[in-house]
Amino acid sequence: MSLLEVKDLGVQFQTGDGIVSAVNGVNFTLEKGKTLGIVGESGSGKSQTVFSIMGLLAQNGWATGSVKFDGVEILNLPEQGLNKIRAEKIAMIFQDPMTSLNPYIKVSEQLMEVLILHKGMNREEALAESIRMLDAVRIPEAASRIHLYPHEFSGGMRQRVMIAMALLCRPELLIADEPTTALDVTVQAQIMDLLADLQKDFGTSIILITHDLGVVAGSCEDTLVMYGGKVMEYANTTDLFKTPSHPYTKGLLSAIPRLDHVGSELHTIPGNPPNMMNMPVGCPFSPRCEHATDQCHKEPAALVNYDGKRLRACHKPVEEI
Ligand SMILES: Nc1ncnc2c1ncn2[C@@H]1O[C@H](COP(=O)(O)OP(=O)(O)OP(=O)(O)O)[C@@H](O)[C@H]1O
Ligand SMILES: [Mg+2]
Repeated sequence: MSLLEVKDLGVQFQTGDGIVSAVNGVNFTLEKGKTLGIVGESGSGKSQTVFSIMGLLAQNGWATGSVKFDGVEILNLPEQGLNKIRAEKIAMIFQDPMTSLNPYIKVSEQLMEVLILHKGMNREEALAESIRMLDAVRIPEAASRIHLYPHEFSGGMRQRVMIAMALLCRPELLIADEPTTALDVTVQAQIMDLLADLQKDFGTSIILITHDLGVVAGSCEDTLVMYGGKVMEYANTTDLFKTPSHPYTKGLLSAIPRLDHVGSELHTIPGNPPNMMNMPVGCPFSPRCEHATDQCHKEPAALVNYDGKRLRACHKPVEEI
C-alpha cells in the first residue's frame, strides 16, 4: 500500500467574481521513504494541492476527490482528526520559517512544547530531544543555541530550526513548500542535502514543491508537472529529464542553465500563466504552446498513461512535440 494516494483532487474557491477552480483532477501516489517533486510556475496550483491535503485551505475554499494516507481517507476530515494527523504523521515546512516560528518565544520553548504536547514528555526529556534534533539538522553548538530567539539565527539556520521542528514528532510525510526559495544557492544546496540525509535516517516520505526543475533533479524519484491547476506530466524524474513528453515540461527544462551546453541560449516560455478567473476552455497551456492546434484550444487533454508508466495531458503525439 502506498503511503499517500491522491485521486482526482480538486480545489475550488468562492470569490466575488464567481467560483475559481485552482486545482483540477490531480492524481499521484507516494511510497514510503520516497520523494515526489511538484513543479510549475507561480499560480499553477502547487500550494493549494498540498494545503487541501493538510486541511489548510482558506475559508472560501473546498476540496473534492480523495486523499488516502496509509489507506485511510483524510480529505475533509473534521478539525480534531486533522490536528492529530498534522501533529504526528504529516508535517509541513514553508518558504518563510517565520510562518512556523513565533518571533517572541525562544526556540527551546517552541520545540519543547511540541514534544510535551504530542509525545507526553516532561521538560527535561523534551529539552534533550530538542537539542538532539537541532544537532541532527546540523546546528552548531545546539545545546547553547537552542536558548536563542528565532531572529538571532541566520536565514539558513532558521530554515534548519523549522525543519527540526517539523521532524520532532518523526512524521511519516514531510511536505516542503518552496523550502529554499528565499535562501542563497549555497545554503539551498546544504538544506537539500540535509533533507536527503534526514530522509535516509528517518525514512520520511517527502513532497517537495518548487518553481525550479533543477532542484527536483537531484532529489526526487518522481515529478509532477502542474500548469493552470492541472497535471501536465507525471513521471519518473530521470525519464522526465531525458525525454520530456509535454511541451510545457520541455519549456521548463530549456529554462534551466546547463553546464554541458555552455554558450547555448537560455530559453524562456513566452507569455504568462493563465488567470484562474478566465481559464482557456481547452488545454490551459495552449495559448503559450508552439504546438497548439485547434483541438488544443477547444478541448482539454485528458491525463493518460502513454508508455505503460508515464502520464501526460497533451493532444499531440509525443513524437511531434
Ligand atoms: N483564497 C483564495 N481565493 C481565491 N483564489 C485563490 C485563493 N487561494 C489561492 N487562490 C488561487 O489558486 C491558484 C493557485 O494557487 P497556488 O497557491 O496553489 O499556486 P502555486 O503554484 O503554489 O504558486 P506559487 O509558486 O506562486 O506559490 C492561484 O491562481 C490563486 O489565485
Ligand atoms: Mg505556492
